[in-house]
Amino acid sequence: MTDVIKTPENKVQIKVKAPIVEALKNAYDNQSYQFHIPGHTRGNGTLEDFRKLVGKKALSIDTTDEFDGLGTLHPATGPIKEAQELAAKAFGAQKTFFLLNGSTAGNLALAMGLTKKGQKIITNRNCHRSIMTGMILSGADPLWIIPKQLTDWGIWGNIDPESVENLLKENQNVGMVWITNPTYEGVVSDVKSISQVCKKYNVPLIVDEAHATLWSFNDDLPESALTQGADAVVHSLHKTGGSMSQSSMLHIAKDSCLDIAAVEKALKLLHTTSPSLMLLASLDAARANLESPRGKKQIEKAVKNAKYLRNEIDKLKTIHQLKGDFGYKTDVTKIFIKSDKLSGKRLESILEIDFNIEVESATDNGLLILSNIGNSKRDIKYLVKCLKKIDETEYSDIYYMENRKHMPMITPQIKMNLREAYYSDKETVSKEMAIGRISAEMIAECPPGISILLPGELITKAHLPYLLDYDTIDVIKE
Ligand SMILES: Cc1ncc(COP(=O)(O)O)c(C=O)c1O
Repeated sequence: MTDVIKTPENKVQIKVKAPIVEALKNAYDNQSYQFHIPGHTRGNGTLEDFRKLVGKKALSIDTTDEFDGLGTLHPATGPIKEAQELAAKAFGAQKTFFLLNGSTAGNLALAMGLTKKGQKIITNRNCHRSIMTGMILSGADPLWIIPKQLTDWGIWGNIDPESVENLLKENQNVGMVWITNPTYEGVVSDVKSISQVCKKYNVPLIVDEAHATLWSFNDDLPESALTQGADAVVHSLHKTGGSMSQSSMLHIAKDSCLDIAAVEKALKLLHTTSPSLMLLASLDAARANLESPRGKKQIEKAVKNAKYLRNEIDKLKTIHQLKGDFGYKTDVTKIFIKSDKLSGKRLESILEIDFNIEVESATDNGLLILSNIGNSKRDIKYLVKCLKKIDETEYSDIYYMENRKHMPMITPQIKMNLREAYYSDKETVSKEMAIGRISAEMIAECPPGISILLPGELITKAHLPYLLDYDTIDVIKE
């Protein structure tokens, strides 16, 4: 939502509405004597070093809902309600909920509000652990789609619409299909075809688009599931959309028949009762920025920078990038690279120690670079220069090779219902003694939060290379 305004110099300015930001600004400009939470009272009651680091202004607007006409989150009222409505419009949704505790909160609420004990939920094995936590809460059972594996890169590939259809054909009592798109590394599935399959079987489709916030605002990026037939979508605005860490959105699609009230009730139960206005304002600000001419330019720049980086990587001899291939596409802004002579971990440490560059994540196979809306062309040029230097230098790969399996790719053997296993009597045993036993805990390291083991799954020798950091595992008591 934008307003065209004229400056005193008669210049035309596009002003994007951001109601929470406005309300917070108003509260800051009209300060009262405060006898309420938060008890640091504009930063006076905290460590001085912290106050200096964060700034008194930031601490002055650290408040929760209920005060100063800022509105409430549950139920959504005032500026918060208005901001959620503006977000729904910007993303093309019927309804949008602001999430604190990340997309994790959205996935938990969807599972808690919409799935039931005894129901089967078709989902990809490389889904985020929050979806599984949600099913522990509801008691539903996952029915696994095992996506393709891009073994040369050590990562999961895309989801076949056929594999979704086969599961729907073979199983009764399927509550919903719940897929992740794109993968953490940017591999994109054909959501349109998957949604057509879901419609054929009359089963709702939820898409975890945690890594795809920008897609709704740029035609060079893949299409959001919100316009491809999904019923609900989660976006981690804080990952790539410019909001503050831990703030996300949950969108209900325009023609979705999901029980919105059930989702809202679950969110109310799951959310804090003291939502941070600063985080909510950052969601409002991120949405307003993304739909403004300035934000659109920033996304165009991120895409252009990514294309430039990819073009330069193509010129290197020993460093290669994951590209869209037959059967799948990639999000151009997520650049997964690997080297012929260095492990991904070694490459990461060279970039960090020798060149002061931090990337999104690394495995033995490769590493992930994000071209973000906040990155300048200068940043990218520096990265290219360093990659060129590394390409031409003889490094030894003796150090930093972890020899561990990073990306869990085990097809699970399910022995018990998730919830039942999680709440069973358990005992803690050494991981070697755990082989042949049934797991009572979820092991899913972040990033990317994909499950190695879930409650109710048989522990086998194949799990051991993923469990180097674990001495013991909780198993079901015999
Ligand atoms: C696919 C996916 N979904 C959900 C989440 C959870 O997001 P958040 O960190 O915003 O809670 C993540 C986090 O990495 C993720 O990768």
